[in-house]
Amino acid sequence: MVPLADLHIHLLPQVDDGPKDWETTEEMLRILSENEVKIVAPTPHVYEQDWHGIESKHQGLPELERRAGNYGIRVHSAAEIWAIPDLPERWEKLIPLTYAGNGKYALIEFDVLEMPIFAEWLLFQLKVRGVTPIIAHPERYLWLQEDERNLYRLLAAGALLQVSADTFLRAEAQVGKTAQWLIKNGLADFIASDWHSPDMPYPLAQAVQKLMGELTESQLERLVWRVPSKIVSGQTIQPSWQSSNLRLDIQAFISGFERKSQKRKWWEFWKFFRKR
Ligand SMILES: [Fe+2]
Repeated sequence: MVPLADLHIHLLPQVDDGPKDWETTEEMLRILSENEVKIVAPTPHVYEQDWHGIESKHQGLPELERRAGNYGIRVHSAAEIWAIPDLPERWEKLIPLTYAGNGKYALIEFDVLEMPIFAEWLLFQLKVRGVTPIIAHPERYLWLQEDERNLYRLLAAGALLQVSADTFLRAEAQVGKTAQWLIKNGLADFIASDWHSPDMPYPLAQAVQKLMGELTESQLERLVWRVPSKIVSGQTIQPSWQSSNLRLDIQAFISGFERKSQKRKWWEFWKFFRKR
């Protein structure tokens, strides 16, 4: 079994909709260790109202490090940051929320229903300040499911993509299909669990089982270990899309030329409206 590094998980108690107490966290740590998880970065939700007193989100980290150490699991600080347009103005407070606090990578969450008008601008602002934005579960966003050009816009702004194991496992739903599409086309930079509670089976281990027959060992190891390990140690990563089979489409889109295969045909719009 491959070692796992899980960089999107709700493991700190009483800071969001994750575990309600330390006993629940302890149970989650036990399950993580049974599944060969060696690195975790708990990602408490940070919504707009959480910025006041933001330090409290990480208060439990020393205790979590101590408990996880008993299972041979290393802990790094992180957060799942809701995209708001004035994030760059909160720079001092933002850096401790990046992975391992090293100011290199930040996990950013968007609205499911609508692509914010400031999305590309925000990602670019982070990128030029040296923080590479990582899009949390892009497969969930309807505006991205419906039009892959919105995904290309995020990639053009320098973002990486984190696909969630829990959505990938919902094979029949649109989220699951989009997650599959991202992984199969080599666009996902890494996979993480987005696990919230031990009442649910640990989704990252299940996703790894499912992907074993679909990807080579090296491809799988890259998604669940190599790339996430580099992120927490602040190393540079080549975005996955740059070696994807869709790279020519994406490069053409970024340069302002849509390839023929990307242009929408009138009957596709018809299908789209019929679905609603
Ligand atoms: Fe999450």
